[in-house]
Amino acid sequence: MSNEGYNARFINRQSFIELDARERAKALFDAGTSRELLGPFDRVESPWLAMQGVTPQEDDGCVVMKGKIAGQAAVVVALEGAFQGGSIGEVSGAKMTAALDLACADNEKGIRTSAVILLETGGVRLQEANLGLAVIAELMASILALRKHAPVICLTAGTVGCFGGMSLAAGLASYVVMTREARLGMNGPEVIEQENGVEEFDSSDRALIWAIHGGEQRYATGLADALVGDDTPQVANAVRHLVSKGVPPVHRSSQVALYRNRNCEARYVAAVGSQRVPRTLDNEWI
Ligand code: COA
Repeated sequence: MSNEGYNARFINRQSFIELDARERAKALFDAGTSRELLGPFDRVESPWLAMQGVTPQEDDGCVVMKGKIAGQAAVVVALEGAFQGGSIGEVSGAKMTAALDLACADNEKGIRTSAVILLETGGVRLQEANLGLAVIAELMASILALRKHAPVICLTAGTVGCFGGMSLAAGLASYVVMTREARLGMNGPEVIEQENGVEEFDSSDRALIWAIHGGEQRYATGLADALVGDDTPQVANAVRHLVSKGVPPVHRSSQVALYRNRNCEARYVAAVGSQRVPRTLDNEWI
């Protein structure tokens, strides 16, 4: 067997995707500075899963850690994609928003504290329905409050990706970091296929899914700020860099005119089949 093409650097890399949520969170902190808050031994689990025949997890699939990143105070919240698809429920959501609110309170006291949210999630936990939806609203409010003071960084590495209401939370982040393997979108492929049929979206077509939701696509279209390899030091470096960079002058979600114009240009090109894109499309579009 030939070893032609053998890439030692790739084989020996420290994969980030292969880490679980707890290991991922820990890997982002300056060495020896992290500690977990409300961990599994505190046994705060979802009260709703057992009654639906689902075994709960004693951290509800949400890891909260506090420590230092690039020498500054930071909180990392990591969703465990292997537990119920990383979906967000009442307890995991309360842990997440409480952590962000405490970080916000620290900032108001003059202790600059950034937040990193590791999103591997199918969105609202279907078994907790409205409670999960309420969490999304609370989470968005917490991100908006915190991002005035310090960066809120959302990181999606894979393999679940970030979908549903949690993609809205990612949209509010100061920065979004993705790997090539990650996916980011509002409706998951299965949901689009289920609602609109396989002609609309074939959820078994992996090339199609990554061409639309994939990390490279999101980075190229400006919906992600950094594209990193599946390599733990590279991911940690990107996060350190963004924590040090601080709050962006304008958040992506405030650039309404930019994205509205871009959307309008795309619709115009699709409609008239021309690459000629006038500046004032709004005036021409009926
Ligand atoms: N609530 C509860 N469970 C969920 C979930 C959710 N929101 N999202 C995923 N899961 C579960 C799946 O049921 C599955 O459970 P199982 O292993 O017991 O069968 C597990 O997580 C893994 O999901 P699966 O679909 O097998 O993995 P995948 O990698 O192929 O796809 C997603 C992951 C997230 C892309 C896909 O599950 C999806 O499209 N989900 C819907 C996303 C969405 O549109 N959410 C909107 C809700 S607001």
